[in-house]
Amino acid sequence: MTSTFENATDVVGGTESPAPTVIAIATQKGGVGKTTTTVNLGARLAMAGYNVLIVDLEPQAQAGTALGVTLGGQEDEQAAEAELRRSLGYILQMALQSFPRAHLQEAMFDRTDEVLEGFDGHGRLCLLASEEASMSAAQNAFVTKPYKQTATLRHLLLAEARGFDFVLIDTPPAVSHLNAVALAAADYVVTICIPEYQSIKGALVLSAATHAVETNTGGECKPQLLGALLNRSNPESKWTNQDVDIRNGMVGDGIGAEPGRGLFPFFTDVRKDTRISESYIYGKPAVVRFPNHACGKQYTAVVEEILDRIDLPREKWTIADPILLEESADA
Ligand SMILES: Nc1ncnc2c1ncn2[C@@H]1O[C@H](COP(=O)(O)OP(=O)(O)O)[C@@H](O)[C@H]1O
Ligand SMILES: [Mg+2]
Repeated sequence: MTSTFENATDVVGGTESPAPTVIAIATQKGGVGKTTTTVNLGARLAMAGYNVLIVDLEPQAQAGTALGVTLGGQEDEQAAEAELRRSLGYILQMALQSFPRAHLQEAMFDRTDEVLEGFDGHGRLCLLASEEASMSAAQNAFVTKPYKQTATLRHLLLAEARGFDFVLIDTPPAVSHLNAVALAAADYVVTICIPEYQSIKGALVLSAATHAVETNTGGECKPQLLGALLNRSNPESKWTNQDVDIRNGMVGDGIGAEPGRGLFPFFTDVRKDTRISESYIYGKPAVVRFPNHACGKQYTAVVEEILDRIDLPREKWTIADPILLEESADA
């Protein structure tokens, strides 16, 4: 896409452009809404005028699908190969070996016109796309390399994603080594809970893993947990004991968390809504399709909280109060 490259050279503007703020959306488990959250928050930031790069570090490549990009589908063999050389998995493999590869600004897909058509005052929305075979090979390559190479993606983004205000990384579950690559690349980490007990435990494991990156990378990478988002939540009228326990487990230091290592839940949660899941097949996130519906407003509110938290010290973050059940209210 020539337009990507032309815009990119304007945007790169040499190394004096500030480095982007990198946010990884990460959980221990799959299926909780990482990809959905990444594309909706990314699109909402771009709707607000920020230049946003979405980085798909997940071999399943679903962030690409959610933004209308699928790599490797071309019939012409040469064209398909050229496209695969733009995949993040291929670029990471080449970067690990210091082999020639595309600059990130050449490799990325500019989705601005397709996804944000009809909105005024928006920024750019670009995607570094994933493809299964090359990303799985990249994951294997990281496993065989010394731990300090975990910072490879961070180095690439700081050097070549200049001109973007935000980079949002969609990640595979924490069992994958690529998850460590994402955490090391991030300034901030947003984790996700769903209304199921295991998700709190998973979020605490992720919080600890985030904290450990600084030690593991010899102080080079210092990601901070920005907070936990409750996704696929139920309306208050339908809360069960489990819903209440999950909400309370997210508040403060959480159940069984080390002091100061809690989940810092966002005030806003994102409700379960088929508009969100169905948007996937339209190649446009729900926040773009339904900006004024409840789901669009929830993502807008989460984006506002994220921006506030990035600007404020942690002591000032607004966090929901624990919920008292009727029978325990007097206890
Ligand atoms: N708030 C929501 N309401 C309804 N469906 C959701 C919501 N968030 C995610 N989903 C759906 O849940 C499934 C898992 O979400 P996904 O973002 O793919 O999770 P992950 O990336 O963590 O594996 C998808 O089918 C997605 O459409
Ligand atoms: Mg996913």
